[in-house]
Amino acid sequence: MRITINDLREMKAKGEKFPMITAYDYTSARIVDEAGIPIILVGDSLGQVMLGYDSTIPVTMDEMIHHTKAVARGAKNALVVGDMPFMSFQVSESEALRNAGRFLQEGGAQAVKLEGGVTMASTVQRIVGAGIPVMGHIGLTPQSVNQMGGYKVQGKSLKAAARLMEDARALEEAGAFSVVLECVPAPLAGLITQRLSIPTIGIGAGKECDGQVQVFHDLLGLLTTFVPKHAKRYATLAETMSAAFSQYVAEVKARSFPGPEHSYPLKEEVLAELQSQVH
Ligand code: KIV
Repeated sequence: MRITINDLREMKAKGEKFPMITAYDYTSARIVDEAGIPIILVGDSLGQVMLGYDSTIPVTMDEMIHHTKAVARGAKNALVVGDMPFMSFQVSESEALRNAGRFLQEGGAQAVKLEGGVTMASTVQRIVGAGIPVMGHIGLTPQSVNQMGGYKVQGKSLKAAARLMEDARALEEAGAFSVVLECVPAPLAGLITQRLSIPTIGIGAGKECDGQVQVFHDLLGLLTTFVPKHAKRYATLAETMSAAFSQYVAEVKARSFPGPEHSYPLKEEVLAELQSQVH
């Protein structure tokens, strides 16, 4: 049975913590889904980890839909959330609604996520009003990296902390079903979590949040160049993959791969006949 936004609300009410993870393709989504992770976010972080852009800013709606479709085909039980990319929801509420609708109609997602608090509340309300569940995202919002002056922890001063609390409340009032808190001091995330009736999902926001989210590649150790402080590596797959590829190269060169177990036989008489016919 697929997880619904009501299940998440119940988990919060019972004090049950839950994980969320990003995924961007069919195979990964199947593995995540079979592991029982209840929410898969097709994050616009795919711009960096799948497409090699240096930020999420160049990511387009068409790229997001392409990856969301693949994830939706692999996720049988998890709630699939499509991340609205930069400029897909800021220009007008109508455009935001149309693009949110694409995630459900074309992508096969069950919900969307978008960055922003108070300033996005009426957009959230409009999308929710059309029957599309919305996950908010406040704190460090990577699509505003140029405005923020870098990827920095948010809400450290009294004024900034109070603004984040207002953002969270505005999203709740607008009908968001949950809110991601990214790079927010743990005590502030704890307070927001206490004050909201909808679940908070933290990334670099401490253990008091109702849920946690991690980026697939960070958790599996697939990218070795940069590991954010808030990411925990549960595996070192880049090393495992690299060792496998080196062994493959060595075996092909040494002619030990493919062996007979990887090859298809031909009856001797067929081969002999062929050799007599073909010169
Ligand atoms: O795009 C993404 O992966 C995200 C998570 C970090 C929350 O927005």
